[in-house]
Amino acid sequence: MSSERGQFSSRFGFISAATGSAVGLGNIWGFPTQTASHGGGAFVLVYLILAFLLAYPALMAELIIGRHTRHNMVGALPQLTQRPALQVIGRATGLYGVLIASLILSFYAIVAAWLMAQVPAAVANIGGQQPAASWFTQSSLLRDSLFCVLFLALTAAIVARGVKDGIERWSSRLMPALLLLILGLTAVVLTLPGAMEGLRLYLVPDFSLIAHPSLLTSAMGQAFFSLSLGVGTMLVYGSYMSKTDNLPLTGAYVALIDSGIAFLAGLLIIPAMFVAHQQGIEIYSADNTLIAGPDLILKTLPTLFNSLGLSGALIGLVFFLLLSIAALTSSISMLEVPVTYALEQFTISRSRATWLIASGIFAISLLILFNFDELFGSVINITTKYSQPLLGAMLCLFAGWALHRDKLLSEISAGYSAAEQGLFWKIWPSYIRFVCPVLVIIIFVQNVRT
Ligand code: PFF
Repeated sequence: MSSERGQFSSRFGFISAATGSAVGLGNIWGFPTQTASHGGGAFVLVYLILAFLLAYPALMAELIIGRHTRHNMVGALPQLTQRPALQVIGRATGLYGVLIASLILSFYAIVAAWLMAQVPAAVANIGGQQPAASWFTQSSLLRDSLFCVLFLALTAAIVARGVKDGIERWSSRLMPALLLLILGLTAVVLTLPGAMEGLRLYLVPDFSLIAHPSLLTSAMGQAFFSLSLGVGTMLVYGSYMSKTDNLPLTGAYVALIDSGIAFLAGLLIIPAMFVAHQQGIEIYSADNTLIAGPDLILKTLPTLFNSLGLSGALIGLVFFLLLSIAALTSSISMLEVPVTYALEQFTISRSRATWLIASGIFAISLLILFNFDELFGSVINITTKYSQPLLGAMLCLFAGWALHRDKLLSEISAGYSAAEQGLFWKIWPSYIRFVCPVLVIIIFVQNVRT
């Protein structure tokens, strides 16, 4: 077993890495498209409420377990209890988490490949190289496999360098770049004709839609996916945190930045759709709802960028660069889950473990690509719709019931000496024991039934 454990060098390092994990395609693609297909502002409101009532407490459960045990998810859960039966359940939950994190990465890499291919497409467009541009734009097995391997190799190259020199360094560089790109792009898009109509749809809630059952379910699922919960990513990042960090506050920053960037992405994408509408581009599907699937990002928006001439091509370039960066800072956190498990379970170097596991994940991505219609949607459903909420509930139960109250308090008090008198300690322990698991189980049951 390897005894060398990495640690983030500062609170900024942890916040960059954790927000890097949280902010990804889920924010920039998932959140705006879910908003578009669930009637705009009503979804935004419900999402923001759930992100803080449900996802933030669950995030805290993962961070606390991680920092307390200083282990990967498989090793961490059995450590919380003396009861052999619970230890077995903990281990099995951890192994399931590692499997799900790996499967999420295998489909995420495919989506990231589609988006990354748009970057050279935009460059070729700007350079007037039409045939090259259309090769990069059109999906083919060759293009998708090549960009998938490129994306996974970039991910592995960062993870192989370790916590401080790989994950922290690259997240701290890429996250501020991402924020600047998204702010700049939003400012540009909001000045274009048609944008205000989109802004209205996005920001004004239609309260008649709030009671819609699928709105609640989707908003909860989205909050879980967006904060990278359930599969041990945040647990592992928590295990690299310093004991001097104030956990409730640092976790709150991560949740706030994640929701803030999702909100900002909506201010970019929904108005951009209405700018496209103004240009005569179709933004409604046959059933009269706003286009929301891959077509929105891969067809509607590129058509808009192309119709705006050179400045449009530049906007397109920045947009797909932004998406690629967001995907990369998330994918490194997914790969870190099986890699940490391998490091703490077997005698193997980080670099070897990383490249071996990344190759295995690429093999699964290829399997999905070659059996796309049968596998792609099912893998997404099994991992994000069913497994993430279920695993999240298990982690809440472990934090709430298996970890002794005194240990819980001393973990929270490390880095926050006034914890015992604070509001967080008054509410969170019972909240995590009862409210969170019940809420998560409600989502789970609803998900299965719908
Ligand atoms: N939070 C990421 C996103 O919003 O795109 C997705 C994600 C990352 C899910 C890491 C799960 C995970 F372990």
